[in-house]
Amino acid sequence: MSKKELLHTQKMPKHVAIIMDGNGRWAKQKGRLRVFGHENGTKSVREITETCVELNIENLTLYAFSTENWKRPKIEVQTLMRLLISSLKNEIKTLQDNDIRLQTIGNTDELPRKVQRELQDVISQTKGNKKMTLTLALSYGSRDEIINTIKQISIKVKNNIISPELIDESVINEHLYTRNLPDVDLLIRTSGEQRISNFLLWQIAYAELFFTEVLWPDFTKEDLYEAILSYQKRERRFGKTSEQLKA
Ligand code: FPP
Repeated sequence: MSKKELLHTQKMPKHVAIIMDGNGRWAKQKGRLRVFGHENGTKSVREITETCVELNIENLTLYAFSTENWKRPKIEVQTLMRLLISSLKNEIKTLQDNDIRLQTIGNTDELPRKVQRELQDVISQTKGNKKMTLTLALSYGSRDEIINTIKQISIKVKNNIISPELIDESVINEHLYTRNLPDVDLLIRTSGEQRISNFLLWQIAYAELFFTEVLWPDFTKEDLYEAILSYQKRERRFGKTSEQLKA
């Protein structure tokens, strides 16, 4: 049986998040510039997005640009921004045909105006789509998100809109950038690194983690099937015992 046939359609993760890593190393292995790796990384973005829709995964979140990525050489940052614009322009039809809604998380007001305009355009054109929500984390950092959340809640406490005793997980969830998304079920990181790198720290509290040596431009739907198969074999106990779950 193929990997795809082995998947349990009833046990699909509702939210898959991916740290797309290894573009630079992929290009270096081929004796090319890092930007060549990013260009090829966009092909994997397309394949994995389409595959998630096919598998009825409701939410896919991609770490496309972190708050720390601003420190990269200017030419690389410019290339990533250019790729973002061209991908948005080229893929609007793919998003519409597949009924995918696009949204972003992060400090998008720090992005170049042109990128912001393109994003706004695609976000508004796809806002009625229902099959999957594709979230791009752009100029995103999880600690930054948590700080922002605390600030917003503090202002509401100060203005007597929220009472401190009533602050619970749901109040925090409602103030995160990911407020409309469920917790992450499966977090994938490519390229052999086994770190979280300031990505969705609150939201991955009970996520299953899947690390693969495959570099992002080489990551195909077969690799995604493998990650989901691994996820489906695990017992998610959420702090309970195995016996409690079976009862
Ligand atoms: C990590 O590889 C990748 C990134 C920082 C950017 C990811 C961007 C893309 C896949 C292309 C554009 C995205 C979209 C959504 C259209 P790295 O450069 O850190 O690789 P390295 O660790 O091998 O140097």
